[in-house]
Amino acid sequence: MDDKHVRRRKVSLKSSFTGTDSTTNRSAISAEKTHGTFNFCTVLILFATSCLFVILGVGLYLSPLKNAVIIDGLVNVELTGVYAINSKLSVGKRIENIPSPECIVEGLGGKLYTGLADGRIVCIHPSSDGEIGAGKVENITTGIIQGAAMSTDALGHGRPFGIRLVGKTLYAADAVYGLYTVDIVTKHITILVSTNAKNPPLKFTDDLDITADGNFIYFSDATHNPITHYHLDAYSGICSGRIFRYNTISKRLDEVISGLCFANGVQLSNDEHQLVVVETTRNRIIWYDIETWQPHNVVNVPFLPDNVRMTDSGTYLVAGSGPFLRPWIKYIFFNFPSVRKSMTGLLSSPTLFRTFQNLYAVQHVFVIELSVTGEVLNVMQDADGRLAYAIATATPLSDGRLALGSWHSNHIAIVDTT
Ligand SMILES: *[C@@H]1O[C@H](CO)[C@@H](O)[C@H](O)[C@H]1NC(C)=O
Repeated sequence: MDDKHVRRRKVSLKSSFTGTDSTTNRSAISAEKTHGTFNFCTVLILFATSCLFVILGVGLYLSPLKNAVIIDGLVNVELTGVYAINSKLSVGKRIENIPSPECIVEGLGGKLYTGLADGRIVCIHPSSDGEIGAGKVENITTGIIQGAAMSTDALGHGRPFGIRLVGKTLYAADAVYGLYTVDIVTKHITILVSTNAKNPPLKFTDDLDITADGNFIYFSDATHNPITHYHLDAYSGICSGRIFRYNTISKRLDEVISGLCFANGVQLSNDEHQLVVVETTRNRIIWYDIETWQPHNVVNVPFLPDNVRMTDSGTYLVAGSGPFLRPWIKYIFFNFPSVRKSMTGLLSSPTLFRTFQNLYAVQHVFVIELSVTGEVLNVMQDADGRLAYAIATATPLSDGRLALGSWHSNHIAIVDTT
């Protein structure tokens, strides 16, 4: 390109910004040309902008959401200091063909129990020489509870997320069926709290904990959207999660906290004076006083925290995945609710779910250990999801290893933490 060409480009660029023709050393023809380009560009920009507004409007009109709000109150935590990237969760083995084993508990004799995507609860036996997780898989439930009320009938079966084991009784928080118990010997199921036990009904029973005397069960209802549409929470920005207290003696059910941003894992403190609650879509863990239900401690984390469990030494393990991938996308997503709402009118549920998921690095997994008061004691990670991804729960095993549950993978990962 020679000098003359460069100069010509500069001039036309300048006048397309100013839109005036004050330069005297140009020919009339060149000025006309520039004007033509200017008009064409303006028309094009106006056209594109109008198109965008029309698309936005159509999306807003078709949106299933009543309302969408700005997402705020989310504290940005950098991957530095205690959260500096490490690979402590990258070595171990997988138990394959276990679809979306969100939560895992270990029973007597090294048996593992977990709830699956198809609604079943299964028991994974140890191998004949005692290796945990290496034996046969036994069905404990079929995933279908005949005649039970459902939060949605779209799946045709349940979806157990949180599970706890007390003696021979498995307690399950099931997003479709509510709260029930299973006798692991007889496999008999008893519904404790059905989804229509409250108004508004339970839509996404997610996790539970039980007092030592067995008299109270605390459990979460993550959102007012059923499991088929829970991604809509992320698009509306509205926090509709609740915590309930169920009295197993009197059968009384109380709503004790509302307005939580995807109420997920729950864990009683050792003295049972506090309930630790995970708010997944605000990336935080909150300690509530169980008398006043006032929050008195908050820990913000750089990922989507899911479940919380207590270790033998009384510390808390919180598992989750996915730091936000790009800050500018996060900015737009959080601050322009109309764009989010419009998207829900234009895109299919699977696309919306994938889009939301693509905002986060779900292969980047975290398990953090918190002290009784919420100090971060240890952060274990794997940024590449080599062993586990989209993790939901970290369960310490009796052999010293750590089992990782996932809401999305087809396996349980067992990490060598030594
Ligand atoms: C467990 O249930 C699944 C799904 O119904 C079935 O395909 C599988 O064969 C069952 N496994 C055993 C060991 O019965």
